[in-house]
Amino acid sequence: MGFSTRQIHAGVSPDPVTGSILTPIYQSTTYVQPSVDEYLAKGYSYSRSGNPTVRALEMKLADLEGGAGSACFGTGMAAVQAVMLAFLNAGDHAVVSDVAYGGTYRLCTKVLNRFGVRFTFADTARPEAVAAAVQDDTRLIFTETPANPTMKLTDIAAISEIARQAGAIHAVDNTFLTPYYQRPLELGADVSVHSTTKYIDGHNATVGGAAVSRSAELDEAVRFIQNSTGTIMSPLVAWLTLQGCKTLSVRMERQSANALAIAQFLEAHPKVAQVCYPGLESFAQHELACRQASGFGAMLWFEVRGGLAAGKQLMDCVELWSLAENLGSVESLITHPVTMTHADVEPAERQRVGIIDGLVRLSVGLEDAEDLIGALDRALAGI
Ligand SMILES: Cc1ncc(COP(=O)(O)O)c(C=O)c1O
Repeated sequence: MGFSTRQIHAGVSPDPVTGSILTPIYQSTTYVQPSVDEYLAKGYSYSRSGNPTVRALEMKLADLEGGAGSACFGTGMAAVQAVMLAFLNAGDHAVVSDVAYGGTYRLCTKVLNRFGVRFTFADTARPEAVAAAVQDDTRLIFTETPANPTMKLTDIAAISEIARQAGAIHAVDNTFLTPYYQRPLELGADVSVHSTTKYIDGHNATVGGAAVSRSAELDEAVRFIQNSTGTIMSPLVAWLTLQGCKTLSVRMERQSANALAIAQFLEAHPKVAQVCYPGLESFAQHELACRQASGFGAMLWFEVRGGLAAGKQLMDCVELWSLAENLGSVESLITHPVTMTHADVEPAERQRVGIIDGLVRLSVGLEDAEDLIGALDRALAGI
């Protein structure tokens, strides 16, 4: 069956007790067992270890990504953390995208490093740089593509092959494109990670995460961390996210079409110094974007002439676009990564990986493209 059919029907079925077409919110801590001998007969004991509403979302996401199983978490960072805890031990080495989300960078450099895990931040856009970074004890390669906020792409198939030869796990943060446009597991990766806070939910209503694994063994390792660290998603968040999933393909198509129109408008604007969107032919890795994904997504960045001061002025005066940190929602958002999402990344490291001071990030929503363009046009005229 096609993606749009599966995004609605996979993982869920009418409630056997009432016929409710929506999976209920199983707001229960514990589950009564029929007898000591039939412990776990219905699969649930305690909602930290598993919950039927969360399970429905886990099954849906596993289906959409083409994985053997998935685990859902209270936040995207809990999903990233679970993958790292599942596959890394003290003394192990990991290679991570040098442009990964700021929270991922912070988890590596300020938390997991304290437990003896060693990280190399490599330019994952260059497979040869990843191969050179791999050491004898590299157990995990963690990439993010497109990366937040630079939009740098990583060739998933090429890095998966490097990981396979090194005997390491390749986990891909697939938050920006979602399984509708990009399926890392089909390209050879082992785990696909999401901040479901973004497009999977899509309505600025929840914070959540997911890790979808290629095999049942990998899924079990991630689920063990989910239970041990107590980071499972809540039933209400899972329920809201289940509703969001049903329109994922429609939202992605429309938001991506809006993003392309906005990128083209900005590219032609005299006050804009540069625009970075994978769907533009001017995008350095446009060929890779076409090869490994079936769409370009709805994230882009641009630089206003006049540098940081002009960028700040634009963000403060633009109508309709909300100055806010999230991305992937139906509401269009505008962000300044240097002072907002990536403030924890050291300035030298930011400069090195291309997060320039004047970078303005757009998360294009579902509004009418002409309204979004009109608002940007008026704001640009005023600076
Ligand atoms: C690419 C990416 N991965 C992971 C995360 C972390 O997700 P969360 O904020 O749900 O913890 C984010 C958050 O912005 C992100 O953009």
